[in-house]
Amino acid sequence: MAQARGHGVTGLDVGYFEDCVTRPQAGGVADAQILRDIRDVAAADLEGIDAIVHLAGLSNDPMGELNPGLTYDINLESTLKLARLAKAAGVGRFVFASSCSIYGAAGGAGQLDETAPLEPVSAYAVSKARSEEGLLALADADFSPVFMRNATAYGLGSRPRFDLVVNNLAGWAFATGAVRVMSDGTPWRPLTHIEDISLAALCAAEAPRDAVHGQAFNIGRPDANYQVKDIAQAVLAGFPGARLQITGETGGDPRSYRVDFSKALNGLPGFAPQWTLERGVAEVARWLKADGLGAEAFDSRLFIRLKQLRHGMERGELNGELRRLPV
Ligand SMILES: NC(=O)c1ccc[n+]([C@@H]2O[C@H](COP(=O)([O-])OP(=O)(O)OC[C@H]3O[C@@H](n4cnc5c(N)ncnc54)[C@H](O)[C@@H]3O)[C@@H](O)[C@H]2O)c1
Repeated sequence: MAQARGHGVTGLDVGYFEDCVTRPQAGGVADAQILRDIRDVAAADLEGIDAIVHLAGLSNDPMGELNPGLTYDINLESTLKLARLAKAAGVGRFVFASSCSIYGAAGGAGQLDETAPLEPVSAYAVSKARSEEGLLALADADFSPVFMRNATAYGLGSRPRFDLVVNNLAGWAFATGAVRVMSDGTPWRPLTHIEDISLAALCAAEAPRDAVHGQAFNIGRPDANYQVKDIAQAVLAGFPGARLQITGETGGDPRSYRVDFSKALNGLPGFAPQWTLERGVAEVARWLKADGLGAEAFDSRLFIRLKQLRHGMERGELNGELRRLPV
């Protein structure tokens, strides 16, 4: 997507999921790729860079709880280290992948806009909220952080995740013929397709400074707030014959919030989400049925981030600090 708009792209990633590629790279590969732990990022990595879209990190609550201290090192301290290096190197724009999770247990009373109080309820969400604070403190005339408070992603990249709610329910529908909701289905979850998140990141990187400097944007579409039971219904539509089971138990996940997405829609130049949940479910269902991986594969380390990290540790490829070891 970025290259199609004329940008050169350099990736930097530690490669935890490098063997999880199960689909072709939709938008092409980076022009250059640096295999590096973000904790070790150095000034030389930033030569010639105009804008950073900072995605690297432990990317959900269960991974965050693996070792909360590590979550703060990777997601918070390294974000601020990268930002300080970027600022010193004259990188003017720093787009940070934050999360709607920072609204936490803020409840279903109304839609939360970017001025709502933050109530993060996990190490992951705390790391995102504190990163925003730290980045904002670095903002000045030449350095503009922008915070993308992404809704939970659905859809497929080259390394699809099935530990995200829509994809996960679709995987179970495919494998077992049942969409199983392990709660009463009432919690609210905002959702966004991965390509719309990518578009938002690009818009935030390209926007005139005054439109985005130091700003947070909730990233989703106006109708992107769903209760889990409605997500389950949408998933069922992709798997004719599948049945719905709502267990009614008290869920282990206290998050529930509805989000107001109007600021990005009105104020992030060029941002116009293209995907609906229905279309996204159809895409995932089509791929599951066609790709030939087998019914259980979606629940394997190839698609579940935490399982892949545990696998790396069991095989001695990662140590307890998630440092890559020579093999
Ligand atoms: N997927 C979502 O629903 C969602 C929602 C809101 C925010 N986000 C944020 O967006 C970003 C990308 O999410 P994703 O779904 O693509 O996650 P992902 O797990 O697929 O990708 C994260 C990448 O970060 C890399 N990484 C992790 N630790 C690293 C380290 N120490 N050094 C270098 N690289 C490291 C991993 O190798 C991986 O390639 C994350 O910061 C995540 O918190 C995601």
